[in-house]
Amino acid sequence: MNISGNTIFIPGATSGIGLALALELRARGNTVIVGGRRTDLLDTIAAEHPGIDTVEIDTAEPASIDSAAKAVLARHPDLNVLVTMAGIMRIEDWHRPESFLASAEATVTTNLLGPIRLIAAFIEHLRAQPDATIMTVSSGLAFTPLKVTPSYNASKAAIHMLSESLRLQLADTTVKVVELEPPAVRTSLLPGQETSEFAMPLDEFVAEVVALIESQPDAREIQVERVKFLRYGEARGDYDQVVATLNAADPHGN
Ligand SMILES: NC(=O)c1ccc[n+]([C@@H]2O[C@H](COP(=O)([O-])OP(=O)(O)OC[C@H]3O[C@@H](n4cnc5c(N)ncnc54)[C@H](OP(=O)(O)O)[C@@H]3O)[C@@H](O)[C@H]2O)c1
Repeated sequence: MNISGNTIFIPGATSGIGLALALELRARGNTVIVGGRRTDLLDTIAAEHPGIDTVEIDTAEPASIDSAAKAVLARHPDLNVLVTMAGIMRIEDWHRPESFLASAEATVTTNLLGPIRLIAAFIEHLRAQPDATIMTVSSGLAFTPLKVTPSYNASKAAIHMLSESLRLQLADTTVKVVELEPPAVRTSLLPGQETSEFAMPLDEFVAEVVALIESQPDAREIQVERVKFLRYGEARGDYDQVVATLNAADPHGN
């Protein structure tokens, strides 16, 4: 995708990576619509950044996706980029169902079904645009498992393969599929992560992402340097070592 001149909807941008990316893309000359459930944050974002539009959306609820999609497309008929950013990450203990089943179901609903339903709501519109992009958001944990978050890892691995498959299937359309693969980044995705020494500072991450989009507009995967350790363990042949290092480094998550 080009770095400027787009109209971009980012459901999951009330905080963290989504918000930082929204602000940077706005500064680069894009029209940006921020989505999420926390209406207090949506109101603050709208007040502090008059150029940014906001829409309430719960990506775990099909009816909310449908009504938000209608609102976004009515206000922004030239929308050409969808970023399926919304996600949750929960620590789970799979020894006992009462400690993981509800979390697993919520994680799959938000992290996998959410993007699938969002793409379903926007695909016909995007196909009608001369140049469109679906940006999915996976994780380094799609490629190397963190022991304490099985459902999260699985949901992100599914997003990786969904992205690979859609790219093939949509090759006969104007819609490109780009997968953003963050490493651990300092956000409130997990308790303690905002200050974790194992996580990348948010501003550095977003600056590197925007530089990659700008220098590689046709990239299939957006990979900052820090994610390559997790992304390419199997290809390098040091996968077992990468798994051991990741899980020894940070027992809490990232
Ligand atoms: N930070 C990392 O280390 C890291 C690494 C790899 C991948 N990622 C991915 O990056 C994405 C953003 O995460 P983050 O780190 O920026 O964490 P974050 O600050 O917690 O942001 C998560 C965003 O998702 C939104 N969201 C969650 N559930 C939603 C729902 N049901 N409906 C609508 N919006 C929902 C939240 O908004 P509301 O609460 O307002 O709805 C929030 O804006 C996620 O997909 C995450 O898996 C993050």
